[in-house]
Amino acid sequence: MINKLQDAFATVGVHNPVDLPQIAVIGSQSSGKSSVLENIVGRDFLPRGTGIVTRRPLILQLINRPASEENKEESDKQDEGKDNQNEWGEFLHLPGQKFYDFNKIREEIVKDTELKTGKNLGISPQPINLRIFSPNVLTLTLVDLPGLTKVPVGDQPKDIEKQIRDMLLKYITKPNAIILAVTAANTDLANSDGLKLARDVDPEGLRTIGVLTKVDLMDQGTDVIDILAGRVVPLRLGYVPVVNRGQRDIESKKSIKRALEYESEYFENHAAYKSKAQYCGTPFLARKLNMILMHHIRNTLPEIKAKIQAALQKYQQELLTLGDPLDDGSSASRANLVLNIITEFCTEFRTIIDGNSNDLS
Ligand code: GDP
Ligand code: NA
Ligand code: MG
Repeated sequence: MINKLQDAFATVGVHNPVDLPQIAVIGSQSSGKSSVLENIVGRDFLPRGTGIVTRRPLILQLINRPASEENKEESDKQDEGKDNQNEWGEFLHLPGQKFYDFNKIREEIVKDTELKTGKNLGISPQPINLRIFSPNVLTLTLVDLPGLTKVPVGDQPKDIEKQIRDMLLKYITKPNAIILAVTAANTDLANSDGLKLARDVDPEGLRTIGVLTKVDLMDQGTDVIDILAGRVVPLRLGYVPVVNRGQRDIESKKSIKRALEYESEYFENHAAYKSKAQYCGTPFLARKLNMILMHHIRNTLPEIKAKIQAALQKYQQELLTLGDPLDDGSSASRANLVLNIITEFCTEFRTIIDGNSNDLS
């Protein structure tokens, strides 16, 4: 229902009068935000890498859609790197065009990013809207965002830090946004840009989830157990540690399936995590997100409904003042309408003339 409302507002081109719950990813540049999102979706389709890669917001609607009977056997195809008729993407700016090849989705994101921001690392707050239909996703809306950065590079403006900050604030300030604050586990949590910004808009930590990436890159003998236990920077909704693909995995085109297998093996076999492996990794993060989103929607739905009803009433009132509709559009009823307008005009004209002649006399 939430996804349908979002589409309705986007297609009529009005400013969204209803703030709908969305999950927004924030964190330092290259902390692994796009990698986390891609693992949640379970397909390769986002531009990722070192440096500033995500340069416009990407509003990503995941829509769970069961596989059709005749396409049941398709699910094996993606493992072979082939198209799967059950999973496709659609961009709002390319209506009616279905992308079954997820590499083409990535190419389109890059192409449309460059169209609005140029090739030299510029950024733009104008979002790209993408929907992904699949039997393998949970119905969620996610927003991928540029990372927090400090020093301008390429064509970036001097105040790049502020511009990105303002862009992120636009998505996370709304009280019904859920914030995925991503921090690389091999950096100090106390220095986390994502957590700091999240705290500015959600001081009580009611809608912030901590995600710890790059757990595999931590120094030997160190782990995130203290963070998970809430002994470092406590968060009510807690932290989820994950292991994404590294830069070398991207270059060698390691599949998501293999990456997720590697991730679960990593947590299951690690001395510090094996007793809590069920609370680690991407599948747990996805389930947790879905639960939080459901609760959130359930809590905000009465307010959204009241807002829509108020808007409806307002526009119905406005419609009333516009007078009777042209019910059947036939030439007879049109002639009738014109006659009515002329009659009304004549009456008013006469009143004005009479009024003026009275003044003169
Ligand atoms: P973003 O800038 O925050 O969106 O980060 P990206 O998802 O583009 O990732 C930045 C770089 O970090 C890429 O080279 C990724 O391969 C790497 N990376 C992200 N997460 C992990 C992780 O959990 N482990 C390892 N080893 N590398 C990661
Ligand atoms: Na990056
Ligand atoms: Mg990114």
